Amino acid sequence: MSGAGRRSSSDDLILARELALHAERPVVFTGAGVSAESGIPTFRDALTGLWAQYDPEQLATEAGYRNDPALVWRWYASRRERIAQAKPNPAHDAIADYGRRKPRLQVITQNVDGLHQRAGSADVIELHGSILRVRCLDGCAGQAVGWESDPRVPPLCARCSAPLRPDVVWFGEFLPEAALARAQRAVTECDLMIVVGTSALVYPAAELPFSARRNGSEVITVNPESTAVDEIARVMLAGKAGDLLPRLLGA
Ligand code: OAD
Repeated sequence: MSGAGRRSSSDDLILARELALHAERPVVFTGAGVSAESGIPTFRDALTGLWAQYDPEQLATEAGYRNDPALVWRWYASRRERIAQAKPNPAHDAIADYGRRKPRLQVITQNVDGLHQRAGSADVIELHGSILRVRCLDGCAGQAVGWESDPRVPPLCARCSAPLRPDVVWFGEFLPEAALARAQRAVTECDLMIVVGTSALVYPAAELPFSARRNGSEVITVNPESTAVDEIARVMLAGKAGDLLPRLLGA
């Protein structure tokens, strides 16, 4: 197992397994890399196909949506279709299984694909929302409608007739307060944080591993590449989540 110039010996895996086995209040913190082996491109993968001509920072913003609601709605509908065909991979399954053995496990994700929940993880904290939900663009409370509506045009809010929007965090937007507060509380209490498949470039989510470390938690990273979190990691497991997590978390 070696990422860019990183070596992970089997001793690392043995140490990491010990930490995971004895943790009483573990947190698993995930990014797009945990869903890569489910066929869902990560953010740092280039956009492909029809969407290659677009910049996500142009599409995934409120301004981009107000500018062309139908285009952005179609982009999310195509991503939702891809997610509907995807399946949780062995990484999601290993995390769900670990949660059944560690009732105090808290899963915090930056992903919007709902795959942790489909794998059986309970009580997932979705820092960046969910592509499977929509809400009113102008903020009417409680509006949520399924995606069975026409994928070509955004449906309108039943209360105020503004277009509905995906219930995800767009660039430049604040994270959902309740989710962020729960995540920040979880990292003040955890004794182990396993950081899986995130480049740790986007704040405030990326701050969580450093907060956990400052609060005395051990940190394990699982990623083919090196990231800034490696500086504070007790163990760095270089490789794919679908391969490493079953070996790290398996009973
Ligand atoms: P990125 O695309 O930034 O990073 C994906 C990480 O996963 C990289 O570090 C890869 O090396 C790693 N990776 C790739 N394949 C992997 C595999 N099979 N197993 C394990 N790791 C793998 O995605 P995120 O870090 O999740 O925010 O991006 C964070 C946020 O940036 C996203 O939530 C999104 C984006 O802007 C919003 O949409 C608000």
